[in-house]
Parts: sequence; C-alpha cells; structure tokens
Amino acid sequence: MKTKILAILRKSQGYVSGQQLCEVLHVSRTAVWKVIEQLKEEGYEIEAIRNKGYRLCGSPDILSSAELESLAETNWAGKKVFYFDVTDSTNTRAKKLGEEGHPHGTVVAADRQTGGKGRRGCFWESPSGKNMYTSILLRPRFAPSKAPMLTLVMALGAAEAVQEMTDLDVRIKWPNDLVVNGKKICGILTEMSAEVDYINHVVIGIGINTNISDFPEELRSKATSLFLETGVTWRRAELIASVMRHFEANYEIFLQTENLSKLTEQYNHMLINKDRQVQIIETGSSWMGRASGINETGELQVEKEDGTIENVFAGEVSVRGVCGYV
Ligand code: BTN
Repeated sequence: MKTKILAILRKSQGYVSGQQLCEVLHVSRTAVWKVIEQLKEEGYEIEAIRNKGYRLCGSPDILSSAELESLAETNWAGKKVFYFDVTDSTNTRAKKLGEEGHPHGTVVAADRQTGGKGRRGCFWESPSGKNMYTSILLRPRFAPSKAPMLTLVMALGAAEAVQEMTDLDVRIKWPNDLVVNGKKICGILTEMSAEVDYINHVVIGIGINTNISDFPEELRSKATSLFLETGVTWRRAELIASVMRHFEANYEIFLQTENLSKLTEQYNHMLINKDRQVQIIETGSSWMGRASGINETGELQVEKEDGTIENVFAGEVSVRGVCGYV
C-alpha cells in the first residue's frame, strides 16, 4: 500500500483527497492516515490540508523497497525490489534470490555494502548514505556464450540514464566503466550461474559514485562522483529507476537479434576509446593500436600499426589509454 500511495501522490499535480486514496486502494481513511504518518517519519515531506487532502512536496534521498518500486516505470526491471540498509554485496544477494527462484527483473539495492565486489576479485568501497549499489537478476533464454554482451547493454543504459539526469558528458570506457572528465564514475560486475548450454541466471551489479564528496588519496586522480562533477546531490532512487528504465529498453532491443547490432551505434557514440590510441594488456604481453568501436558481439575493434584489425574480447584483456586510465 505504501508503494501505491507514493506512486499516486507522485503522479498527481495537486492534492489527493483521503477519500480518493481510500477508494482506489479499498482501505479505510485510518489506514491511509497511518501510512501517510509512516511516510512522514521516513522523511517524506507531505502536506495535509483539511478538505483538500495530501500533497507530496519533497522526497529526500530515501532508499526503500516502496520508494524504488513506486518510481519504477518499467515492465519488469525493478518492479520487485529487495532493499537492505546494509548487506555484504547486492550481487551476492541477487544470486541467492536467483537460486531461490525469484523472477527475471528482480532488483536488489543497498545503502551500504560490507563486501562490495569489483571485477577480478577487487573490493568495491561501499560507504553508507552516498552511492548507488544495485543488482538486477535476469533469466535469459539464450546461450551462456552471449551473456557477456549484457554487461555492455547495462553500460549503455547506465550511461544514458546518467546523461539524461545530470546532463554530464558521460562516456563508456570499453567494455563497461563509465567515465566523466577522464575519471571513473561507475563500475559494472556481471556474474552468471549456468550449465554449458543453459543459463540458470545472470546478475548484473552496478555501482555509481553518486553523492560521495571525497575519495582516498590513491583514487583521487582516477575516480569521481556525480556530486563532484555537478556540485549538487542526487536522489539515488531516481537514479536507480532511470538506469532500470534505460536498461530494460536496451535489453528488449538486444533480444531482437541476441547481439548488439542494433545498439552498436549508440554505444560507439558514447565510447571514449573510439578513434583513440589504446594499449591492450594481455597476460604476459601488451600492444598498441587505434580503437574504432565495438562490433555486434561487443568486441573492441583495434587497428594495429601494420593496418590489420584485431577484435579484442573483453574477458581477456584490459585497455588503457596511452597516458593513463582512459
Ligand atoms: C568494477 O570493478 O568496476 C565493478 C564494480 C561493481 C560494483 C557493484 S556495486 C553493486 C554490485 N554489488 C557488488 O558487490 N558489486 C556491484
């Protein structure tokens, strides 16, 4: 009921009468009043005027299942949200929900992670009250070999969402970091449970440095946040809802061909490595070339000095700009 009341208040331009809410939700006025009081306690600014009704005048940066579900403008991505004030890792939680049989599109979000996971076994700093830590559970019916492309689908969705919300010049560093002014603002970690020819589930986790105002010394030159880039704080719930909306739209496009052919143009448009020199670091060796963009399976096409084109597969290498992170 909380989710529905929030959604109704948010959609209405002016006041919504208690009577209207009772009729739509088939509950008593007292029940409505109780939920309104709970919402106020959680920090929502709700104006209540006799003979007029209720009006939502402000929602601070609140994270809860009701807040997130009431903001969802999707068909399946984030319609059901499990929210935790603190958890080990939203990816680990989402994988457990996957094993328990929860449906495609289930989202896990947290205010703080004690064991946030980055790629290649790295730790992802996840302090409370600052950043976005979210994972989505997917149950695709295509072959496991296609799953790595989903990371790029999420990178594109997240880049579009951040750009739309903040107007920042967000770029994708292949395959799946988001970068603003040459510094990392977002990381994505995709994990899968599968048999050789059958996906049980995929979990895509995304962390966006949102309102954090300072980084440890060693990260300052490499990482930034939406707050540091714009000077204003952002509502994480709106950010999550927007990422999910863009991700769902791109996922549906991806499903039409089961590859990235219909998304390469948008992706390459946001790709920071495009037409730049890159250093490809493989185990034991490294080489340089000029990146021209991704192909329909998400490989980075790199032209070597002798004119030959190499298709670089994400899992095997790491890409650096010639002078640093990008
Ligand atoms: C990277 O190394 O760039 C990937 C970082 C991914 C971090 C996110 S935060 C939400 C989700 N839960 C995790 O434990 N990791 C991902």
